[in-house]
Amino acid sequence: MNALDRHLALIGFMGAGKSTVGNAAAEKLGRPFVDADRVIEARVGLPIARIFDERGEAEFRRLEAEITVELLESATPTVLSLGGGAVGTIEIRKALHAHALTVLLEVSVADAWKRSQNGQRPLARDRERFEQLYEERQGLYIDTADTAARDLHDVILAAGGVHVAVGALERLGELVPGAGAVSLVGDRRVLGIYGADAQLALGTRLTAGTHELPSGEEAKSGVSLERLWGELRLDRKSTLVALGGGCTTDVAGFAAATYMRGVPWVSVPTTLVGQVDAAIGGKTGINLPTAKNLIGAFHWPTRTVIDPVLLETLPESERAGGMAEVVKTGLLAGERIWELPDAELVRRCAAHKVAVCLRDPHDRAIRTSLNLGHTFAHALEAGAAYSTVTHGHAVALGLRAALQLSVKHLGLDPKWSAVVEDVLKPKPVRVDIERAWAAMKRDKKAEAGKTRLVLLEAFGRPVWGVELPDDEVRTALESLVER
Ligand SMILES: NC(=O)c1ccc[n+]([C@@H]2O[C@H](COP(=O)([O-])OP(=O)(O)OC[C@H]3O[C@@H](n4cnc5c(N)ncnc54)[C@H](O)[C@@H]3O)[C@@H](O)[C@H]2O)c1
Repeated sequence: MNALDRHLALIGFMGAGKSTVGNAAAEKLGRPFVDADRVIEARVGLPIARIFDERGEAEFRRLEAEITVELLESATPTVLSLGGGAVGTIEIRKALHAHALTVLLEVSVADAWKRSQNGQRPLARDRERFEQLYEERQGLYIDTADTAARDLHDVILAAGGVHVAVGALERLGELVPGAGAVSLVGDRRVLGIYGADAQLALGTRLTAGTHELPSGEEAKSGVSLERLWGELRLDRKSTLVALGGGCTTDVAGFAAATYMRGVPWVSVPTTLVGQVDAAIGGKTGINLPTAKNLIGAFHWPTRTVIDPVLLETLPESERAGGMAEVVKTGLLAGERIWELPDAELVRRCAAHKVAVCLRDPHDRAIRTSLNLGHTFAHALEAGAAYSTVTHGHAVALGLRAALQLSVKHLGLDPKWSAVVEDVLKPKPVRVDIERAWAAMKRDKKAEAGKTRLVLLEAFGRPVWGVELPDDEVRTALESLVER
């Protein structure tokens, strides 16, 4: 369940911060923000408190239902904040179910009381009554909401159907949407570590078998995909659950996109790259012997289940690779995410990726910004014939080139380009420079042979489609290569 083509509705008690968080979420998702209470006030021409006092609560609820249902039936997906008591009306609950992903914004009763003392809330005048109302409404909020959130990042994650929680793997059975059969697809090594836990958590839902993929890029081949297609025994109501790093979720997601012309899938990323990037946003695919990720499809997972605890068994080299994506995300988001502890770092990065992908699911505009450093990285990987240079190392070097060009051409403060050196410390690599350069000119983001780069004009402010003279770009690429 996600808010890709639906309204994102925020419900919760008065003082939960629905308007503030809703406004910020709308900005991140590039959608209009609509505050149902403000629309009611504008239509009636009176503040809510006066509608209550002069016309009574019953008339207010009637108006609220009429206007809220109308807002929910509007075609353009919005972020919609509902009044605290709106879910008490059955017509509104039905419309939420039909047209929105509904998120409960949680707040403690003490915080709610403190924030509601501005004199404009008719039901926040008497503390005892306020606390009683809070208790009465909790059950209704929980029953109505598709999920709960405590802050802006949680709301964005919910909008993308992404669940981040320590211990989430143990709850996999209940987190896989639908009631049909489930099949588990995992990377050989990951199944050896977490396969039994995942099977236990899926319990009786795991009726369509467990399928093993090779570890690493070998999984993203036509041969491995064809074997998986042949093994799957799914119908349209079944769900494929992919457990592993980016290679596993890429190929298993592509199998889900193509098997019977598309079955639902759930991604369960187990690497840092997977948790902060690869498993989110619906890009799936495989490699051709001549080029990475050339064959693929957009197929958004019905849920992404992220358990940061799974990173504990990740080899240090794989973690280092993931940190390059973390630094990239922090620079794009304008937050020093790389300094945070694992669980929070993963939550923030995942939220940034969700926001960008929901805003531009098919990679036509802002989603391109996620490619910061990657044009150089892909060239280096090709120059090393996809064997001697890891993707993470290549991304770290690619970030160095992109940020140095950003300092020179867009006036980026050099302290941000220094972050790459301080945190990632990438060493130049030995690659075939002509092969790398040829790959750069062929990049999927190039147009008419002209390389189009993503650069940063400031911390948190990416610019994409930047064309620079070939000799500048080539010199930057050469600076990443060992002589
Ligand atoms: N679809 C997207 O949007 C997207 C984005 C970024 C990257 N990618 C793709 O992701 C792939 C790279 O993914 P990756 O870096 O996760 O590599 P990966 O899937 O190859 O995993 C790396 C290694 O770590 C092992 N491993 C995984 N989880 C583990 C765990 N918890 N404990 C111990 N070992 C574990 C795996 O067996 C494998 O050997 C690339 O093919 C890249 O193209 C896709």
